[in-house]
Amino acid sequence: MRVGVLTGGGDCPGLNAVIRAAVRKGVQQYSYEFVGFRDGWRGPLEGDTVPLDIPAVRGTLPRGGTILGSSRTNPLKVDGGIRRIKENLAKEEVDALIAIGGEDTLGVAARLADEYGISCVGVPKTIDNDLSATDYTFGFDTAVNIATEAIDRLHTTAESHMRVLVVEVMGRHAGWIALHSGLAGGANAILIPEQRFDLDEVCKWVESRFKVRYAPIVVVAEGAMPKDGQMILKDESKDSFGHVRLSGVGEWLAKQIEARTGKEARTTVLGHVQRGGTPSAFDRWLATRFGLHAIEAVKDGDWGKMVALRGTDIVRVPLTEATAKLKTVSPEEYKEAGVFFG
Ligand code: F6P
Repeated sequence: MRVGVLTGGGDCPGLNAVIRAAVRKGVQQYSYEFVGFRDGWRGPLEGDTVPLDIPAVRGTLPRGGTILGSSRTNPLKVDGGIRRIKENLAKEEVDALIAIGGEDTLGVAARLADEYGISCVGVPKTIDNDLSATDYTFGFDTAVNIATEAIDRLHTTAESHMRVLVVEVMGRHAGWIALHSGLAGGANAILIPEQRFDLDEVCKWVESRFKVRYAPIVVVAEGAMPKDGQMILKDESKDSFGHVRLSGVGEWLAKQIEARTGKEARTTVLGHVQRGGTPSAFDRWLATRFGLHAIEAVKDGDWGKMVALRGTDIVRVPLTEATAKLKTVSPEEYKEAGVFFG
């Protein structure tokens, strides 16, 4: 058995841990051979490969990023894309493909498995933690830890200067990073994409915080939107899956707060710092288990499936189910955090 592996979409701490675990188990227990495809779906599309064996994965467990490279290439948008992928897999004598990615990468894997008979197994990854069918994706815990540490540090400067500090975190459609880091870091307002925010209310929270002589921290997800406004974009360009670049809501919010309350407001945009560097212990553990179970799915010939965490068990779910719906913050869970606003 020869197994191809690729990583697609935004990089995410823990990707190397998945690759390492899959290779270690596949080689040691089943004598499988592996080949890495470079830069997500671009690899199989263009036949761009990299050797993948036990020496290649040594020392990669604590390393962020991905040793295979990543991209947002969408082969379904390329003329003859499926045919080229099939030809390149045949040329490399690949019997099975492990695709590690978020909703876009796995959406492609689902179609290749279901409609084109390609033997794919999926592993979920996204720091946003917004894939349904799995309780957690690796990368999320690391991102939350980084954002929480940043909020802790920003508290001291906010209070020394009596400023409003707005912290913009990632989260395109789902506010999980904002909610978890905001609660863990003791934010005074948490704004998420799932619930439009009322600027007057945010300003009231800010002012009430100053009354008790503490400076407010406002955590905002990049996809959060004001009640009567639009999502704030970096620019209008789209990637090949149709996503626009976000970021800017933090700056916008600080200006609005300053204009309305007269208090100095500054913004910190955490950006790719949240995705960078070494994975947390939880993410290494989860990614490793996902890698081990992905190889079991390959051994069983369980194509079109994704490994997922349910409680403390790793289960297999159809890729189509996993990518059909986003997992977002429920109104009830968001409401819980409201006790700490203001
Ligand atoms: O999907 C994960 C994510 O980190 C989002 O939170 C964010 O909007 C996006 O990727 C950023 O992607 P890129 O680094 O390609 O701009």
